[in-house]
Amino acid sequence: MKNNKTKVHNLSIDEYDEINNPPPEVVDFDNILQKAMSRRSFMKNSAMFGASAFVLGSGLNILSSTDAEAAFSGLVNFKPIKADTKDDITVPEGYSWEILAKWGDPLFTKGKWFDHYTRGTGETQELAFGDNNDGMDTFYTKDGKTIIAVNNEYVNRSIIYDNRGTKLPETADDVRKGKAGHGVSIFEISNKNGKWEIVKDSKYNRRITADSRMEITGPARGHDLLKTISDPTGTLSLGTWNNCGNGKTPWGTYLACEENFNGYFSNTDPNADIPPEFKRYGISTKDWGYAWGKFDDRFNWDLEPNEPNRAGYVVEIDPLNPSSTPKKRTALGRFKHENAEVTLGKNNEVVVYLGDDERGEYLYKFISSKKYNKNGDNSKVLEDGDLFVAKFDDNGKGKWLPLTPETTGMKSKAEIAIHTRMAASAAGGTTMDRPEWVAANPLKAEAYVALTNNKNRGKKPNAGGDDTSVNGPNPRINNQYGQIVRWTADRGDHASSNFKWDIFALVGNPAVHKGSNAGSKNITKENMFNAPDGIKFDSKGGLWIQTDGKYSNSGDFAGMGNNQMLYGDPKTGEIKRFLVGPNEAEVTGLTWSKDYKTMFVGIQHPGEKGNSIWPDGPGTAPRSSIIAIRKNDGSRIG
Ligand code: FEO
Ligand code: CA
Ligand code: CA
Repeated sequence: MKNNKTKVHNLSIDEYDEINNPPPEVVDFDNILQKAMSRRSFMKNSAMFGASAFVLGSGLNILSSTDAEAAFSGLVNFKPIKADTKDDITVPEGYSWEILAKWGDPLFTKGKWFDHYTRGTGETQELAFGDNNDGMDTFYTKDGKTIIAVNNEYVNRSIIYDNRGTKLPETADDVRKGKAGHGVSIFEISNKNGKWEIVKDSKYNRRITADSRMEITGPARGHDLLKTISDPTGTLSLGTWNNCGNGKTPWGTYLACEENFNGYFSNTDPNADIPPEFKRYGISTKDWGYAWGKFDDRFNWDLEPNEPNRAGYVVEIDPLNPSSTPKKRTALGRFKHENAEVTLGKNNEVVVYLGDDERGEYLYKFISSKKYNKNGDNSKVLEDGDLFVAKFDDNGKGKWLPLTPETTGMKSKAEIAIHTRMAASAAGGTTMDRPEWVAANPLKAEAYVALTNNKNRGKKPNAGGDDTSVNGPNPRINNQYGQIVRWTADRGDHASSNFKWDIFALVGNPAVHKGSNAGSKNITKENMFNAPDGIKFDSKGGLWIQTDGKYSNSGDFAGMGNNQMLYGDPKTGEIKRFLVGPNEAEVTGLTWSKDYKTMFVGIQHPGEKGNSIWPDGPGTAPRSSIIAIRKNDGSRIG
């Protein structure tokens, strides 16, 4: 995959990152290997998986795959489905699905229906649902309308530019189309005779793209590192892109999280020296094939050296106020944000859990200075607060380490907000196996993080040179399956500095492996999967797990089929497969209708390597889509 002949448009987003941001070579390989080996022998001699054995959820140790079924206490009952490799959606018996929105569907009557031949223009894309839908949430107006806000993470170059010989953007309009394929789509949906559809021309319908006006708020607002030629105040930026997971605040706003923002920047000199603070974030002289810098100077960092510092944040958007300006919340730090899981501390502090999805990067928590006010104005709550990095001890306990000038050696809160990765390294957080979504249990002060995989664990330090030897919550060298780690906040308070943790699921393949790569006991031949990514709780405390993993269905991944969505019971540890996606797709993004009778699920990048015709069939472009799932008896799902 890594030779020069590899066509850029055939790579997954992860593979782009690997090529453009190769981790540094191991400096002291022998030392790292030795540490890993001694850990390995410890693991072999212990009852289960060594250091992590006693921190696996106690419920898991008593479960076998047969009594797990009987023990399942979740509200959503269904017969688990088998893995498959069909270019289609599979759901359990008694459930049905239909399409709600597909990439390129117009949100306005003046838009055009999607053209499978040209795959749209800049203009049609600006009026339509973006590409690669990811995190999403539903919002409700006082007069009973349902509004959905959805991230459009990136564009599949080979698919949207299929009309070009290079399958890459060639013209200014191609780049306009690409930028408009990104960002956030907000639109009203309604249920007509049992079928959900987009309400075209609703006053709530709105596209936020890589060119929309944003206000920069919080500690870094106006900082010298955020000033550019077009914005000498450092307070206004243009656009949001690569929005991955999301969050929803108790006051009804939407949080879009900027993840792989680095892949859009280039330098007019391909041999330019890359400053270390850019290297840490994977910013290079070449972009990942989007070509924005070719037509927009702000994406060339030799021309606008501070523009990359204005991306990598959480953006707060009010979906019910279509004229509102989105706000970049620098207080929540700058890194490759996955999602932003918002919950409350005992004294109504707003607590936001945040993952940085990169091999060997960190898990964070934000605690607001102002309290949440149920009947008041919360529009400034995310402007100021304290940021912490997670430190996991191998003994099942952990701490949130504050990121302050004292703990990081940085001059100000502004600098910590901009160079958060370096701050976390200085404070001594625990390097993690790519933190994806965090989900907080609505029934107790407990949260879960999906650690998707990390082939560098135990092999290479992270981009900041931090040691990534195996550790408690990341116990496997060359972790190719991932794990879901959870913690309980001390005193039942998410604002507490201390927690206890365990591993909810160590994902693996028990049909192929023995030992730690077979996974924990709640991973069976019937439910196995790889690369947990999206996770979210329903209202009854059931944990939904979505995957973005290998879909080869062979070798280490034999028997796992396509990417999927599963349902986990936090009490018993049982996990059941609920949905399987089409070929070469990821399942990501989950929300519900107000009555919980419809579950909306995101299907992203079907056919990312050219092998899907989902959902429209032969002779058509594969299209990322949101599907609506209903139970045939009309009862709640979650
Ligand atoms: Fe966009 Fe980390 O997934
Ligand atoms: Ca994700
Ligand atoms: Ca992903």
